[in-house]
Amino acid sequence: MGKKCLSVPADLMARIYALCEDEDDLIAIMATVSAELFQAVEGFDWVGFYRVVAPNLLKVGPYQGGHGCLVIPFDQGVCGAAARYKTIQLVDDVDGFEGHIACSSSTKSELVIPCFNQSGHLLGVLDIDSDQPHFFTWQDADQLDQMLRQLFQNVSS
Ligand code: SME
Repeated sequence: MGKKCLSVPADLMARIYALCEDEDDLIAIMATVSAELFQAVEGFDWVGFYRVVAPNLLKVGPYQGGHGCLVIPFDQGVCGAAARYKTIQLVDDVDGFEGHIACSSSTKSELVIPCFNQSGHLLGVLDIDSDQPHFFTWQDADQLDQMLRQLFQNVSS
């Protein structure tokens, strides 16, 4: 299957910005983003956040979809890689990612984006799973990254 030419719809981004306007609570923003992205985009089969709760440790935050694992050390999984390297992880085929953590056997591709406040403090990561291979584009990743930086800028470290 060829890569889907998916870009996150502009109206969805606008709705999320409006819902989160002037919000600085981490969990409120995470819950809103998870719900809106999951509901709006076919092919986003799991959407959620993992929070940095201690040095080199992530714990599950708000999410939509089937059961997500609760704890991810920075040295494990796609989420751990995003947190460890503080870089976007766009995985076209999860079976090709060494150490991928399969919360669902149906997941085929994954996008994980680190989340920062305006001080550059790592707050957590946004994790999106798809049951379709090669589902995500770098356009999706860049648009979501920009949105997350805007939304989380005033969240305290
Ligand atoms: N696949 C992720 C783990 C989180 S579950 O997909 C919700 C990873 O490898 O870090």
